[in-house]
Amino acid sequence: MIHLAPSILSADFLQLGKQIDQVKKGGADYLHFDVMDGVFVPSISFGMPVLENVKKSTDLFLDVHLMITEPEKYVEKFAELGADMVTVHLETLKDPDAILARMHNTTAKVGLAINPATPVEELLPYLHKIDMAVIMTVQPGFGGQSYLSKCTEKIEKVAAHAKTHKLDELLIEVDGGVKLDNVETPLKAGANVIVAGSAIFLGDAKANTKAFVKELQTFEK
Ligand code: DX5
Ligand code: ZN
Repeated sequence: MIHLAPSILSADFLQLGKQIDQVKKGGADYLHFDVMDGVFVPSISFGMPVLENVKKSTDLFLDVHLMITEPEKYVEKFAELGADMVTVHLETLKDPDAILARMHNTTAKVGLAINPATPVEELLPYLHKIDMAVIMTVQPGFGGQSYLSKCTEKIEKVAAHAKTHKLDELLIEVDGGVKLDNVETPLKAGANVIVAGSAIFLGDAKANTKAFVKELQTFEK
Protein backbone atom coordinates (compact mmCIF):
# COMPACT_ATOMS: atom_id res chain seq x y z
CA MET A 1 0.00 0.00 0.00
CA ILE A 2 1.16 3.51 -0.79
CA HIS A 3 0.37 6.14 1.82
CA LEU A 4 -0.29 9.84 1.32
CA ALA A 5 0.91 12.16 4.08
CA PRO A 6 -0.30 15.74 3.60
CA SER A 7 2.04 18.10 5.46
CA ILE A 8 0.13 20.63 7.53
CA LEU A 9 3.13 22.98 7.40
CA SER A 10 1.40 24.53 4.39
CA ALA A 11 -2.08 24.52 5.94
CA ASP A 12 -4.02 27.62 6.97
CA PHE A 13 -3.72 27.42 10.75
CA LEU A 14 -6.90 29.37 11.34
CA GLN A 15 -8.70 26.62 9.41
CA LEU A 16 -6.61 23.68 10.58
CA GLY A 17 -9.40 21.40 11.82
CA LYS A 18 -11.38 21.96 8.66
CA GLN A 19 -8.37 21.39 6.45
CA ILE A 20 -7.51 18.13 8.21
CA ASP A 21 -11.10 16.99 7.60
CA GLN A 22 -10.70 17.88 3.94
CA VAL A 23 -7.60 15.74 3.41
CA LYS A 24 -9.27 12.90 5.29
CA LYS A 25 -12.33 13.20 3.05
CA GLY A 26 -10.03 13.33 0.03
CA GLY A 27 -8.66 9.92 1.00
CA ALA A 28 -5.34 10.62 2.76
CA ASP A 29 -4.43 8.12 5.47
CA TYR A 30 -1.40 9.85 7.07
CA LEU A 31 -0.93 13.41 8.33
CA HIS A 32 2.62 14.78 8.27
CA PHE A 33 3.52 17.05 11.20
CA ASP A 34 6.74 19.07 10.76
CA VAL A 35 8.40 20.19 13.98
CA MET A 36 11.18 22.79 13.47
CA ASP A 37 13.35 24.33 16.16
CA GLY A 38 15.12 27.18 14.37
CA VAL A 39 18.47 25.50 15.10
CA PHE A 40 18.65 22.30 13.08
CA VAL A 41 16.69 24.13 10.39
CA PRO A 42 16.40 27.89 9.85
CA SER A 43 12.69 28.11 10.66
CA ILE A 44 10.44 27.49 13.67
CA SER A 45 7.07 25.78 13.17
CA PHE A 46 4.93 24.20 15.89
CA GLY A 47 5.15 21.49 18.51
CA MET A 48 3.52 19.66 21.36
CA PRO A 49 0.38 21.68 22.15
CA VAL A 50 -0.59 21.69 18.48
CA LEU A 51 0.00 17.94 18.22
CA GLU A 52 -2.19 17.37 21.26
CA ASN A 53 -5.05 19.25 19.63
CA VAL A 54 -4.58 17.64 16.24
CA LYS A 55 -4.66 14.21 17.89
CA LYS A 56 -8.00 15.04 19.51
CA SER A 57 -9.47 16.13 16.21
CA THR A 58 -8.48 13.31 13.85
CA ASP A 59 -7.88 9.59 13.57
CA LEU A 60 -5.43 9.98 10.69
CA PHE A 61 -2.04 8.31 11.25
CA LEU A 62 0.13 11.07 12.74
CA ASP A 63 3.54 11.11 11.12
CA VAL A 64 5.70 13.45 13.21
CA HIS A 65 8.91 14.70 11.59
CA LEU A 66 11.31 16.16 14.16
CA MET A 67 13.68 18.66 12.54
CA ILE A 68 15.26 19.52 15.87
CA THR A 69 18.60 19.14 17.63
CA GLU A 70 18.70 16.79 20.63
CA PRO A 71 15.57 14.88 19.65
CA GLU A 72 16.41 12.41 22.42
CA LYS A 73 14.92 14.94 24.86
CA TYR A 74 11.51 14.76 23.23
CA VAL A 75 10.82 11.45 21.49
CA GLU A 76 8.89 9.88 24.37
CA LYS A 77 6.82 13.02 24.82
CA PHE A 78 5.74 13.16 21.19
CA ALA A 79 4.73 9.51 21.35
CA GLU A 80 2.70 10.14 24.52
CA LEU A 81 0.93 13.05 22.86
CA GLY A 82 -0.29 10.81 20.09
CA ALA A 83 2.36 10.57 17.39
CA ASP A 84 1.89 7.27 15.56
CA MET A 85 5.30 7.66 13.96
CA VAL A 86 8.20 9.74 15.22
CA THR A 87 11.02 10.49 12.79
CA VAL A 88 14.38 11.84 13.90
CA HIS A 89 17.26 13.03 11.71
CA LEU A 90 20.38 10.89 11.57
CA GLU A 91 22.44 14.12 11.45
CA THR A 92 21.25 15.02 14.98
CA LEU A 93 22.05 11.72 16.71
CA LYS A 94 25.16 11.16 18.81
CA ASP A 95 24.32 7.51 19.47
CA PRO A 96 21.76 6.35 16.88
CA ASP A 97 21.47 2.80 18.22
CA ALA A 98 20.65 3.98 21.73
CA ILE A 99 17.96 6.42 20.68
CA LEU A 100 16.38 4.02 18.19
CA ALA A 101 16.16 1.41 20.94
CA ARG A 102 14.50 3.94 23.24
CA MET A 103 12.07 4.94 20.52
CA HIS A 104 11.06 1.32 20.04
CA ASN A 105 9.99 1.33 23.68
CA THR A 106 7.35 3.95 22.95
CA THR A 107 3.97 3.33 21.33
CA ALA A 108 5.08 5.13 18.16
CA LYS A 109 6.73 3.65 15.12
CA VAL A 110 10.30 4.70 14.43
CA GLY A 111 11.46 6.81 11.49
CA LEU A 112 14.94 7.95 10.51
CA ALA A 113 15.54 10.78 8.04
CA ILE A 114 18.52 12.04 6.08
CA ASN A 115 19.12 15.46 4.55
CA PRO A 116 20.00 15.89 0.87
CA ALA A 117 23.70 16.29 1.78
CA THR A 118 23.91 13.08 3.83
CA PRO A 119 25.06 10.04 1.85
CA VAL A 120 22.48 7.26 1.79
CA GLU A 121 25.22 4.79 2.75
CA GLU A 122 25.07 6.29 6.26
CA LEU A 123 21.39 5.35 6.52
CA LEU A 124 21.54 1.80 5.13
CA PRO A 125 23.04 0.17 8.28
CA TYR A 126 19.97 1.29 10.27
CA LEU A 127 17.22 0.12 7.94
CA HIS A 128 16.62 -3.12 9.83
CA LYS A 129 16.23 -1.12 13.05
CA ILE A 130 13.53 1.28 11.89
CA ASP A 131 9.97 1.27 10.53
CA MET A 132 10.44 4.11 8.07
CA ALA A 133 13.34 5.62 6.15
CA VAL A 134 12.80 9.26 5.18
CA ILE A 135 14.61 10.66 2.18
CA MET A 136 14.54 14.45 2.20
CA THR A 137 14.23 15.75 -1.33
CA VAL A 138 14.56 19.40 -0.30
CA GLN A 139 16.80 21.08 2.24
CA PRO A 140 14.55 20.84 5.33
CA GLY A 141 13.14 24.05 6.76
CA PHE A 142 10.44 25.26 4.44
CA GLY A 143 7.51 24.04 2.38
CA GLY A 144 7.11 24.93 -1.26
CA GLN A 145 10.65 24.20 -2.49
CA SER A 146 11.58 22.27 -5.62
CA TYR A 147 12.26 18.53 -5.64
CA LEU A 148 15.99 17.75 -5.78
CA SER A 149 16.33 15.11 -8.50
CA LYS A 150 19.77 14.09 -7.28
CA CYS A 151 18.03 12.46 -4.27
CA THR A 152 15.99 10.01 -6.35
CA GLU A 153 18.94 7.64 -6.47
CA LYS A 154 18.88 7.44 -2.67
CA ILE A 155 15.29 6.18 -2.74
CA GLU A 156 16.36 3.50 -5.22
CA LYS A 157 19.26 2.47 -3.01
CA VAL A 158 17.06 2.20 0.09
CA ALA A 159 14.47 0.19 -1.86
CA ALA A 160 17.17 -2.12 -3.26
CA HIS A 161 18.71 -2.66 0.17
CA ALA A 162 15.28 -3.40 1.66
CA LYS A 163 14.63 -5.94 -1.08
CA THR A 164 17.99 -7.67 -0.70
CA HIS A 165 17.61 -7.88 3.07
CA LYS A 166 13.94 -8.86 2.91
CA LEU A 167 12.78 -5.79 4.84
CA ASP A 168 9.36 -6.16 3.26
CA GLU A 169 7.59 -3.98 5.81
CA LEU A 170 9.96 -1.02 5.52
CA LEU A 171 8.22 2.25 4.79
CA ILE A 172 10.16 4.56 2.47
CA GLU A 173 9.00 8.14 2.70
CA VAL A 174 9.90 10.93 0.34
CA ASP A 175 9.62 14.45 1.76
CA GLY A 176 9.90 17.70 -0.13
CA GLY A 177 8.89 19.19 -3.45
CA VAL A 178 6.51 16.42 -4.46
CA LYS A 179 3.69 17.57 -6.75
CA LEU A 180 1.15 15.79 -8.87
CA ASP A 181 3.32 16.22 -11.94
CA ASN A 182 6.48 14.68 -10.45
CA VAL A 183 5.16 12.12 -7.93
CA GLU A 184 5.81 9.37 -10.44
CA THR A 185 9.58 9.84 -9.97
CA PRO A 186 9.79 8.86 -6.26
CA LEU A 187 7.12 6.19 -6.75
CA LYS A 188 9.09 4.54 -9.55
CA ALA A 189 12.19 4.72 -7.35
CA GLY A 190 10.40 2.75 -4.63
CA ALA A 191 8.87 5.27 -2.23
CA ASN A 192 5.68 4.10 -0.50
CA VAL A 193 4.89 7.12 1.67
CA ILE A 194 4.46 10.41 -0.15
CA VAL A 195 4.58 13.70 1.74
CA ALA A 196 2.97 16.67 0.02
CA GLY A 197 2.47 20.04 1.67
CA SER A 198 2.09 22.98 -0.67
CA ALA A 199 0.77 20.76 -3.46
CA ILE A 200 -2.19 19.88 -1.25
CA PHE A 201 -2.88 22.82 1.03
CA LEU A 202 -2.28 25.70 -1.38
CA GLY A 203 -5.62 25.36 -3.12
CA ASP A 204 -8.54 23.01 -2.62
CA ALA A 205 -7.14 20.52 -0.11
CA LYS A 206 -9.84 17.91 -0.66
CA ALA A 207 -9.65 18.01 -4.45
CA ASN A 208 -5.85 18.00 -4.42
CA THR A 209 -5.79 15.03 -2.03
CA LYS A 210 -8.21 13.14 -4.25
CA ALA A 211 -6.05 13.78 -7.29
CA PHE A 212 -2.96 12.47 -5.45
CA VAL A 213 -4.79 9.39 -4.15
CA LYS A 214 -5.97 8.61 -7.67
CA GLU A 215 -2.41 8.88 -8.95
CA LEU A 216 -1.07 6.63 -6.17
CA GLN A 217 -3.76 4.04 -6.87
CA THR A 218 -2.88 3.96 -10.55
CA PHE A 219 0.66 3.29 -9.54
CA GLU A 220 -0.30 0.49 -7.18
CA LYS A 221 -2.00 -1.54 -9.89
C1 DX5 B 1 10.34 20.50 4.77
C2 DX5 B 1 9.31 19.65 5.45
C3 DX5 B 1 8.31 19.10 4.51
C4 DX5 B 1 7.44 20.14 3.85
C5 DX5 B 1 7.05 19.63 2.51
O1 DX5 B 1 11.31 20.85 5.66
O2 DX5 B 1 9.91 18.57 6.12
O3 DX5 B 1 7.51 18.09 5.11
O4 DX5 B 1 6.29 20.45 4.58
O5 DX5 B 1 6.42 20.67 1.83
P1 DX5 B 1 6.31 20.66 0.25
O6 DX5 B 1 5.51 19.45 -0.14
O7 DX5 B 1 5.62 21.94 -0.04
O8 DX5 B 1 7.71 20.60 -0.30
ZN1 ZN C 1 8.58 16.85 6.76
